[in-house]
Amino acid sequence: MLIREATEEDWPAIWAFMEGIVRAGETYTYDRDLTAEQARDSWLVPPPGRAFVAVGDDGAVLGTAKVTRNHAGGGSHIANGSYMVAPGHGGRGVGRALGEHTLEWAKAAGFRAMQFNAVVETNSRAVALWRSLGFEIVGTLAEGFAHPERGLVGLHIMYRRL
Ligand SMILES: CC(C)(COP(=O)(O)OP(=O)(O)OC[C@H]1O[C@@H](n2cnc3c(N)ncnc32)[C@H](O)[C@@H]1OP(=O)(O)O)[C@@H](O)C(=O)NCCC(=O)NCCS
Repeated sequence: MLIREATEEDWPAIWAFMEGIVRAGETYTYDRDLTAEQARDSWLVPPPGRAFVAVGDDGAVLGTAKVTRNHAGGGSHIANGSYMVAPGHGGRGVGRALGEHTLEWAKAAGFRAMQFNAVVETNSRAVALWRSLGFEIVGTLAEGFAHPERGLVGLHIMYRRL
C-alpha cells in the first residue's frame, strides 16, 4: 500500500465509496443528500489543507483522508483530520496507515495537535483506532448525533498533541 496526495483524477474512485458512507449517515455529519460536487469541494481541499489516498499495488484507491486547519486565526495551529476507507478494504490496516501518515504530515507541516470534532460514539472501530493512535476523548456532546438506526447518540471530540 502506498499513501500519496490525492489529485482531481482520483475523485471518481474516492466518490465510489464516499457516496455510500455519506448516504448511510452513520459516521459523518454530512447531509445525507450531499451532491458529488459538494463532496469533492469539501474533500479535495486547497492548501494549507491536503487530501491523501491509500492505493493498492494495482493502483486502486482503498481509502482517503484529508487534513485541514481546525479553526482559522488563533486556532489555526490545530489540524483536523477526516478518513474514509472503502468498505471492501476495511479492517486491514488502511485506516491505521492513513491515520499515521496524516499525523506525521501534520506535524511536519507545523501543526501542534490534531483534533477530531465529530466522532460518533457508536463508531466503535473509529473510536478504537483513534485511541490506539494516542487520541483522547476530551468531551462528548450528549445526543450530539442523530443516528439513523440508533437514534440520538453521543458525539466525541478527540484530541492528540503532535
Ligand atoms: C473508521 C475507518 C476509517 C477505519 O478504517 P479501517 O481500514 O477499517 O481500520 P483498520 O483496519 O486500520 O483498523 C484499525 C483498528 O480498528 C479497530 N477495529 C477494527 N475492527 C473493529 C471492530 N469491528 N470493532 C472495534 N474496533 C475495530 C482495531 O483497533 C484496529 O486496530 P488493529 O490494527 O490493532 O487491528 C473505516 O472503518 C471507515 O472508513 N469507516 C467509515 C467512515 C468513518 O467512520 N470514518 C471515521 C470517522 S471518525
